Amino acid sequence: MSSRKKLIAGNWKMNKTSADAAALVTDIVAAVGRQADVDVVVCPPFTSLESVGKALDGSTVNLGAQNMHPEASGAYTGEISAPMLRAIFATHVILGHSERRAYCGETDAFVNKKVLAALKNQLKPILCVGETLAEREAGATLKVVQTQLEGGLEGVNKEQVASIVIAYEPVWAIGTGKVATTEQAQEVHAFIRGLLVKLFGEPMAQKVRILYGGSMKPSNAPELLAQKDIDGGLIGGASLEARSFVELVTVAAAVK
Ligand code: PGA
Repeated sequence: MSSRKKLIAGNWKMNKTSADAAALVTDIVAAVGRQADVDVVVCPPFTSLESVGKALDGSTVNLGAQNMHPEASGAYTGEISAPMLRAIFATHVILGHSERRAYCGETDAFVNKKVLAALKNQLKPILCVGETLAEREAGATLKVVQTQLEGGLEGVNKEQVASIVIAYEPVWAIGTGKVATTEQAQEVHAFIRGLLVKLFGEPMAQKVRILYGGSMKPSNAPELLAQKDIDGGLIGGASLEARSFVELVTVAAAVK
């Protein structure tokens, strides 16, 4: 359907010990670790990055982190930097997830610093945007998404934008089992694509993958992934079990 390769990313959130994470990823690698039809990324907690990275070695599955600090090093207790992630061969980093915005007070300006730091260190940011239920009901969805997107991408140049992945995650659909309808999702994805065209021009905007996130699972993925501007998924719950995650990769591979 589009020339953009589909991307399925697993956001494991605060789940699994290092040993459990390695076991899960070993099963994922056995099933989809040699295919190249779909880009696959797993984002375990920091404590599992190393064990998961080792299990991924030699496979086509990529390693991502769930967050990082914008500074390269220094007195930031409890934080992790982009060079540290690069040193253990992470290629992606989730930034601005709604849980971090809600529970850790992350602002668009702070997320933007992280996006720029990730790019500087050759890490691909997965920049998350999305509205709450109250914002949707108030008719503010597109405005909220626009503010988060423009704020998060401030100072990003045309050459860098192809390395960025956007994840549209309606907050009301995360972990709730309430998935956005394909129409609701495609509307926002097309809006995001339009904003990217304004910011970076048509050819670059067409290269950016826009993932949907929020209760995506094998049963609802085929319809979502068939939409023109939905280029993959950021998967929470369904990424914690090899079977459903692998099935999502298979579904993505089948959508043309
Ligand atoms: P979910 O989470 O798939 O469990 O809804 C998605 C996310 O928060 O990235």
